[in-house]
Amino acid sequence: MVSVMLPLTLKDVSVRRRGKRLLGPVNLTLNPEGLTMIVGPNGSGKTTLLRVMHGVERLSEGSATWAVPEEEARHRQSYVFQTPIMLRRTVADNLRYPLQLTAKPRAEIEELVHHWLKRIGLDARMGLQATRLSGGEKQKLALARALIRKPDVLFLDEPCANLDGASTRDIETILRGALLEKTRIIMTTHDLGQARRLAGDALFMLHGVVHERGPASDFFSAPQTAELQAFFRGDIIA
Ligand SMILES: Nc1ncnc2c1ncn2[C@@H]1O[C@H](COP(=O)(O)OP(=O)(O)OP(=O)(O)O)[C@@H](O)[C@H]1O
Ligand SMILES: [Mg+2]
Repeated sequence: MVSVMLPLTLKDVSVRRRGKRLLGPVNLTLNPEGLTMIVGPNGSGKTTLLRVMHGVERLSEGSATWAVPEEEARHRQSYVFQTPIMLRRTVADNLRYPLQLTAKPRAEIEELVHHWLKRIGLDARMGLQATRLSGGEKQKLALARALIRKPDVLFLDEPCANLDGASTRDIETILRGALLEKTRIIMTTHDLGQARRLAGDALFMLHGVVHERGPASDFFSAPQTAELQAFFRGDIIA
């Protein structure tokens, strides 16, 4: 079932810090389904935009509203940071933790934990301290921990930065699975191959604003602005 918490509407949003505008004005509506990919150069405002959508960035102007009350929306979304934060507990406990905050019966929790341990290939290491995992393993665990509660909306900030090809493929497979289960995904990436593989629609951030937006089919094959064309060529954009 498509989530009732969307659309998300950003109206005249801007974020200023110390007199500098980091983001905005942004006006944007996120539709209920699919995967929205946010691309753009370093410092263009991608992470700030994600944080605004997730409700953890203080707005200087404007509003970000879900189709459900804010409190409910907060419970139905997860955010995975670029550098995953592990609890100082075992791998399995990291997965159990978000479920223990729910009212699920213990047997169901264990079943879910084992399902996800297998799915991310860490079942043999379930008893290891999560802080000792490799960077790629931590990223997979962080993604599993975000998905185990079946959020309606998942935010990912460069989930495959520093990952090798095999780990990137694993994460993309997990994301495709989540999409099939109707999780709404909004993510950033610097990997344009990944952007093409996964995006349903895409946003190009430049200097804190959405410079171009469109369905993936148009966005990647027929970019309209000179800046997005230059970005795809790998040129430096002024
Ligand atoms: N709290 C803050 N105070 C001042 N400047 C900030 C703050 N947070 C972010 N910035 C600045 O805002 C701009 C946008 O940052 P943001 O992290 O959103 O960029 P990004 O597109 O995610 O970049 P990257 O590709 O490097 O991750 C940057 O110039 C950054 O230095
Ligand atoms: Mg960023």
